[in-house]
Amino acid sequence: MSVAEKKPSLIQNWISVAGLIVATGSLFAMLCLMAMDFFSASKNPYIGIVTYFVAPAFLGLGLFVIVGGMLFERHQLIRSQQGVVSWFPVVDLNRPRHRQILGSLIGFGVVLLLVIAVSSYRSYHFTESKQFCGQTCHTVMKPEFTAYQNSPHARVTCTECHIGAGATWFVRSKLSGSYQVYATLFHKYPTPIPTPVKNLRPAQETCEQCHWPQKFYGAVERVRTHFKYDDENSPYTVRLLLKVGGGDPLHGPVGGIHWHMNVANKTEYIASDDARQVIPWVRMTDRDGRVTTYEVKEGRLKPEQVAEATPRRMDCIDCHNRPTHIFRSPDETVDMAMMLGRIDPKLPAIKKHAVDALAADYTETEDACRQIAEKLQKDYPNAATGTVTRAIVELQKIYRDNFFPEMKSRWKAYPNNIGHFEWAGCFRCHDDQHVSADGRKISADCKSCHVIISQGAATELKTISSQGLEFEHPAEEVGDTWKGMKCNDCHSGGAM
Ligand code: HEC
Ligand code: HEC
Ligand code: HEC
Ligand code: HEC
Ligand code: HEC
Ligand code: HEC
Repeated sequence: MSVAEKKPSLIQNWISVAGLIVATGSLFAMLCLMAMDFFSASKNPYIGIVTYFVAPAFLGLGLFVIVGGMLFERHQLIRSQQGVVSWFPVVDLNRPRHRQILGSLIGFGVVLLLVIAVSSYRSYHFTESKQFCGQTCHTVMKPEFTAYQNSPHARVTCTECHIGAGATWFVRSKLSGSYQVYATLFHKYPTPIPTPVKNLRPAQETCEQCHWPQKFYGAVERVRTHFKYDDENSPYTVRLLLKVGGGDPLHGPVGGIHWHMNVANKTEYIASDDARQVIPWVRMTDRDGRVTTYEVKEGRLKPEQVAEATPRRMDCIDCHNRPTHIFRSPDETVDMAMMLGRIDPKLPAIKKHAVDALAADYTETEDACRQIAEKLQKDYPNAATGTVTRAIVELQKIYRDNFFPEMKSRWKAYPNNIGHFEWAGCFRCHDDQHVSADGRKISADCKSCHVIISQGAATELKTISSQGLEFEHPAEEVGDTWKGMKCNDCHSGGAM
């Protein structure tokens, strides 16, 4: 072969060589990281991001630069009139060297394809993981992620409730997810993150995948121990049997709270506020197709307002709106800590001091924890230091688990619709104020949802009534005024 015939190589230029170095380097890094991700037990969101987003991006960049360099080189060669440069190499499989080169190129291609296939599969899974949803955006998702980890659903992935199965919701979630990445990077997100989630997937397609809607639960026992805000921290316990029941005649008597879940009963409502806390209009369609509309007298909607609104059909989320992101109130968390003995109930007025310390406004978590410690040390200058220190440590832990001043997330920002103690919850409708045209009411009868089997303190708790007791409100100063009011008119989760 004469020298003139030798084809100039397009790839032998500095730009393409640099691209080649970047591409092979990132391919190698990707392989190592994937192996690490595969074999290590603990899942770190940042390794995921580097492996499945950053490294592939560099690989792509490298390949792009290689081709760019070749194009540039070709352009140069044509200009320097070194003849027409053919695009593709002339391959002659009769030459052993050409066979070797072709063989190694095919081998490299197969490896590259495999890596791309595995990494795109893994990156799909990675974007669905709780690490990706909960931890990569640190500050933004910290409140929801922390609360979730302390909840009954800690092992259910975010996507199982927020996305569910199927392609359309997958695409929707990736689209809104891309917007969320942008919002996080440029601090365009609201604090606190607003609730309710407007486009949450209907519960039938998420919750009901695990919680069989036909299941009959029977009665569920709840024991709540409270401590009053007096100097003695007087305890008061109430034991309830909640009539959860079920909604399917094939699996148990239809009735109780989950009567609401019966597919044949349709409850719809219109809320007059964004948080769905004020409900002036309810429509019930029973299994026989009878329609009853319940409306409040005060704050009644005008007919044109009703006509304009789209009623929301009640599902699991209208009661269980905090199944996993549960931001507990100072009152509830302190009661729990005292009941478990983590805060000594013998410290005088500790309930009040502890709740005040938690409920105060702080701007930053570490600062809050410092101020909580200072406040308690001031409140108990002479108390045995061990007890006070333990109370401080416990309160700081409660604060870190339930309060996120950086995001303004705390119990007050997130209504909880189960029950009726700190939020209106069931009493949004069950308040004897919602009346139908023929005079029927959505019942507030204390025995329709639960029976109190015992209440009080110490020895009083030994008497258990199977018929159910009348509720005795524990504060004498309140007398009977609580009747006809909503509990959350006075109880709001903070100090009383
Ligand atoms: C058991 C189901 C479930 C799981 C698991 C779950 N969520 Fe939620 N999430 C909900 C429900 C229900 C709401 C509130 C819906 C409403 O009130 O409209 C919600 C609301 C939110 C909100 C809006 C703010 C708020 O608190 O109302 C964010 C943000 C959020 N979830 C993020 C996450 C992240 C991140 C994860 C995983 C770490 C996760 N969720 C796991 C059910 C779930
Ligand atoms: C991937 C499965 C899965 C999904 C989806 C799911 N859950 Fe659960 N849920 C569980 C598991 C597991 C438990 C814990 C069961 C236990 O502790 O016995 C649980 C427990 C519960 C409990 C009882 C909590 C308690 O205090 O013991 C409620 C209420 C509940 N889920 C409601 C919901 C709601 C509402 C949704 C939809 C927003 C939902 N779940 C979605 C699996 C799931
Ligand atoms: C008119 C205001 C008012 C209403 C309405 C009200 N309470 Fe109370 N409640 C109080 C006061 C005041 C105390 C005494 C606070 C203290 O010293 O602990 C109290 C104490 C309690 C306690 C003792 C533990 C604690 O947290 O202080 C329980 C339990 C309780 N109430 C339950 C209820 C329930 C359930 C309802 C609704 C059916 C209700 N209350 C309605 C004012 C009210
Ligand atoms: C009318 C309100 C309401 C609706 C609607 C509702 N629930 Fe419940 N559910 C309750 C109450 C109240 C409890 C009692 C336990 C509690 O307070 O957490 C409960 C209990 C449960 C439990 C736990 C039972 C146990 O043994 O601890 C599960 C699981 C559950 N609900 C799932 C669902 C699912 C899934 C849906 C939707 C298909 C749904 N619920 C709809 C009010 C409701
Ligand atoms: C959006 C309004 C609304 C909310 C919120 C609501 N309910 Fe209901 N509930 C109704 C209506 C309407 C009926 C049917 C009343 C009738 O016509 O008998 C009903 C009926 C019931 C019944 C009686 C079922 C039977 O056996 O006949 C129970 C029990 C019940 N609800 C429990 C609850 C509990 C517990 C909550 C809170 C966790 C709750 N509801 C929240 C509207 C609501
Ligand atoms: C529509 C159903 C419904 C009606 C009506 C109802 N409750 Fe309840 N109540 C509940 C549910 C659900 C819970 C449990 C919430 C939970 O799991 O924390 C509850 C909890 C309670 C508790 C325990 C609260 C705590 O945290 O210690 C008391 C006390 C109570 N109810 C008293 C009453 C009284 C008094 C009435 C009548 C004025 C009444 N309830 C009417 C559904 C109802």
